[in-house]
Amino acid sequence: MASDPQIEEDDDIRNNSGNRPFVEVLQANISRRKVLAGGLALGAAGFLPSGVLADADDEDEHQDDDEKHGRRHNRLIGFDPVPVAQGNGPWPSISSDYEFDVIIPWGEPLQPGGPAYQWPPNAEDQAQQIGIGHDGMAFFPMHEGERHDFDHGRRSGRGNKHGMLAINHEFGRNTHVLGKRTPESLVEVRASQHAHGVSVIELKKLHGKLQTVRSDNARRIHVNTPLSFSGPAAGHPLLDTPAGNPPRGTVNNCANGRTPWGTYLTCEENFNGYFGATQVKSTWTPTPEQDRYGFREGGFGYGWEKFDARFDLSDPDYRNEENRFGWVVEIDPFDGTQTPVKRTAMGRVKHEGAAVTTGKGGRAVVYMGDDQRFDYIYKFVSADNWKRMIRKGKSPLDEGTLYVARFNDDGTGDWLPLTIDNPQLAGRFNDQAEILVYARIAADMLGATPMDRPEWVTVAPNQDVYCSLTNNSRRTVPNAANPLAPNYDGHIIRWRDADKHTGTTFEWDIFLIAQDTHGTEDTFSDPDGLWADPDGRLFIETDGGQKDGLNNQMLVADTRTGELRRLFTWVTKDEITGITTTPDRRTLFINIQHPGNGDPSLTNFPAPFDGVTVPRDATIVITRKDGGIIGS
Ligand code: FEO
Ligand code: CA
Ligand code: CA
Ligand code: CA
Repeated sequence: MASDPQIEEDDDIRNNSGNRPFVEVLQANISRRKVLAGGLALGAAGFLPSGVLADADDEDEHQDDDEKHGRRHNRLIGFDPVPVAQGNGPWPSISSDYEFDVIIPWGEPLQPGGPAYQWPPNAEDQAQQIGIGHDGMAFFPMHEGERHDFDHGRRSGRGNKHGMLAINHEFGRNTHVLGKRTPESLVEVRASQHAHGVSVIELKKLHGKLQTVRSDNARRIHVNTPLSFSGPAAGHPLLDTPAGNPPRGTVNNCANGRTPWGTYLTCEENFNGYFGATQVKSTWTPTPEQDRYGFREGGFGYGWEKFDARFDLSDPDYRNEENRFGWVVEIDPFDGTQTPVKRTAMGRVKHEGAAVTTGKGGRAVVYMGDDQRFDYIYKFVSADNWKRMIRKGKSPLDEGTLYVARFNDDGTGDWLPLTIDNPQLAGRFNDQAEILVYARIAADMLGATPMDRPEWVTVAPNQDVYCSLTNNSRRTVPNAANPLAPNYDGHIIRWRDADKHTGTTFEWDIFLIAQDTHGTEDTFSDPDGLWADPDGRLFIETDGGQKDGLNNQMLVADTRTGELRRLFTWVTKDEITGITTTPDRRTLFINIQHPGNGDPSLTNFPAPFDGVTVPRDATIVITRKDGGIIGS
C-alpha cells in the first residue's frame, strides 16, 4: 500500500499540539489490561451487559424481540465460524450457516436502463453509475412507496422488502478507475471525480432477491454536485472563495450515520489528499491551518489540481475552497431533488462517521471519530428535543454544542466544549464559525486525548458507546485509553455518558485489544467498521494486514461474555466496510472495498478468477440460510 499514495488513509501525523496529558500512566495501563485480559471488563466502570438496561424508548421493541426470538437471555452467537485455516483463499469464505449475493458493483447503472458498465468508465456515464470505494451505507425502509420509520419497521415487520439504500464511495485509485497513475485531461479528472461521492438507489425484493428498481429518487452525488452549507459557519468568509464559485461536491465519503428522522449522513474523511499545488514555492506553502489538516504539494497523487483549479491550493482565486470539505453532509434519500447540506455545527475534521442516537430530553446526539494518528473523538448534542426543532422548521444538526473527548486515566472522561465562550479558546478565534472550520486546532487547545486513529463509533441500546481505534504504529508514549506503544493492531474502547448521552462526563473502559486475540482462532487486527445490534452483539469489520495470512474479515462479539466468532473473510487485498440491515435484521448489507487493491492479477471479484477482469468494489447481501437474525 505504501507504494501507492492514493489511499484513503493519510499516513502522516498532523497533531503536533503536544497533548500528552497522561504520560505517567503506564502502571495504570498494566493493571487495566490485566482486568481485561480474560476477555471483558464487565462492570469495570459500572457497565451493565447490553440488553439489560434497555433504553426506555426502546422497551417495547426489546420485548417484541424477546417474544419473537426468545433469545435475549440465551446464547447470542450460534453460527459455525470460519476457521483460520479457511480464511485466506482467493474467494470469500463465509460461515456454513450463511449465504450471500453480490449487488451494485462499481460501474453498475443506478437503475435499470442506465448506462452499462465498461472499463475504464467515461465521465458522463460514471455520473449515472454506482461509484467506487463502497464504504458506509444505510438502508431506509419503504412502506407503500413512502418513507417508513426504521424502528417502527422493526416492530411492525414492514419495510424489509423495499427501501432506499444510500452508500458512500470513499476513494478509487487512478490506476483502478482510469487505468493510469495520473489523469491527462479534465475529462479524465471528471471520471475520477464522478466515481467518488454517494449513490442513492431503490431496492425491492423481486423473485426472492433484493434488486435495483427504477426510482424517482435514485441519484448520484459526486464531487461536482451542488451542495449548500448550514449552521454557524454557513456564509462565513472562510467558506467563500475570491472566484465566487458556488459550493459543490463531497469527497472521500467514509462512514455514515442514519438520523432518527430518516435522513442519511455522509462523512468527508481524507479530503486533504484531493488537493495539490501547481505553483509550489512561488505562491504556495501551507498555512499552519492547512498543515494541521494535512494539505501538501502533491496531495495523494490524484492530480485533479492540474486540470481543475478548484483543487489547486496555489490558485489565489480558489483560496478557502479546501475549507468546504471535511464536513458531515445530510442527504434525504427520499427526495432526489434535495440539495445535500453540509452541517457545519458538527465541525470540520477528517470525519470517519457520525453515529446518531436520541439522548435525554429527546436531543439528537452524534458521536464522531477523526481518523488520524493522535486525533480525537467528538460529540455533538442538539440544542433541544429533535422533534420539537423539526416542528419549528429547524435542523437538529444546526444548533447545539460540539465537544471533544478527554479520557482520564482513572476510567472517567470529560466532554470539552468547542464553543466561543470557552475561556480556554479566548484570543485564538473570532467567532464560532472559525472554531468549527478549525475544530482540530481548537481541540488541541483544550487538551483532548490523542487517540490511535478513531474509526467507527456505534451506540448500543443500553447506552454503551463503542469506538474502534484501528492502530497507531507511531505511538511512543501510551496513555490509559491508548495503552500500547506502538499499537500495531488496534483496540476498541467503550464509554457511557452521564445523562443519557447528553452529559459532559463519562466512564470508559477498553472493550478489547486486538493483539490479545493473536495466536487464537479469534485472531484479528485493525478494527474499523462497527455495529452494536439491539441484542448485545457487536459486529467488527477489519481493514489492515491480518495475522496468519487471513484476508480482511467480519467478526461478531457477544458483548456480555466476550465470545468472538468469525462470520466471514473476503478476498485478498480488500477491506470490509459499511454495515446496515433491513429493519427485521434478517438481511445484512456489507461492502467489499478495493478487492485486490484493483489489481486483476490478484483477484477478479466479483468475477471468478481469470487474472484479467478488473475487480470491482461491491455490496454484499448476507442472509442466514434458515432466515434467522443476522449474527445468531
Ligand atoms: Fe475511511 Fe478511516 O476509514
Ligand atoms: Ca480503509
Ligand atoms: Ca474506515
Ligand atoms: Ca481503516
